[in-house]
Amino acid sequence: MSTQPRSESSKSRKVTTRSLRQMKERGDPIAALTAYDFLTAELLDRAGIDVILVGDSAGMVVQGLDTTVGVTMEQMLYHCQVVSRGVERALVVGDMPFMSYQVNADEALRNAGRMVKEAGVEAVKLEGGQSICGTVRRIVDVGIPVMGHLGLTPQSIHKFGTYQVRATEPEEADEVRRDALALAEAGAFALVIEKVPAQLASEVARSVDIPVIGIGAGAGCDGQILVTQDMLGLYTRFHPRFVRRYAELGNAMLGAFESYQRDVKARKFPSADESY
Ligand code: KIV
Repeated sequence: MSTQPRSESSKSRKVTTRSLRQMKERGDPIAALTAYDFLTAELLDRAGIDVILVGDSAGMVVQGLDTTVGVTMEQMLYHCQVVSRGVERALVVGDMPFMSYQVNADEALRNAGRMVKEAGVEAVKLEGGQSICGTVRRIVDVGIPVMGHLGLTPQSIHKFGTYQVRATEPEEADEVRRDALALAEAGAFALVIEKVPAQLASEVARSVDIPVIGIGAGAGCDGQILVTQDMLGLYTRFHPRFVRRYAELGNAMLGAFESYQRDVKARKFPSADESY
């Protein structure tokens, strides 16, 4: 691990919505991951991750809920505050939780404003397409960048009834195409597209000027995002095939906890050197 101060080890200039657009134009892939706490955010930033999403997946991978539906504004504000404190270079995007933006555009605007003013995020993410474009426009008009989210939108899990791949039928695929164009037109600076056929995601990415960041959406997107706890092998309740595990930290942590437990029980910890 690098021992350089963070400002020297940063890979390049601050990531902005503008520089993400330029990355798309140059064909430079965007690397995004999620974070919910300060230490992880700091490591992602040092690793050169471009976009750090404070996802409402916190409900599942931090709080142990079955879905993201129960996550509240106050919880998201807390996660966003601690993540923002750990980041210098990456663009920090805060997920708007279920029912914080669906009731009306005024409430959505107030809540998006809280994410920026109280929690330090630089952009917010909303799930949905044409039906939320009025709200997206309203938020963008006051100067808060909005990221869209199409395909498998986990806040609608009770409507879908399953986490299986979306838009495999032509009608839903057409809907996704129209939603992407509408969100770009409404002023969204980027889109996440989740768990749809690779061919559709690639087509969507080519149809809009804004970056399209895929999760389970194939290699034709402008960037990729994963939930950090999934790619580290920490959250193991599901293992969808789109998750590549870059580490098995769950096993490593379990081993460490077991060793500590054994040492304490056997009075092998602490040693004389570890005492005063
Ligand atoms: O909440 C989240 O982590 C997300 C990603 C899966 C894109 O929305």
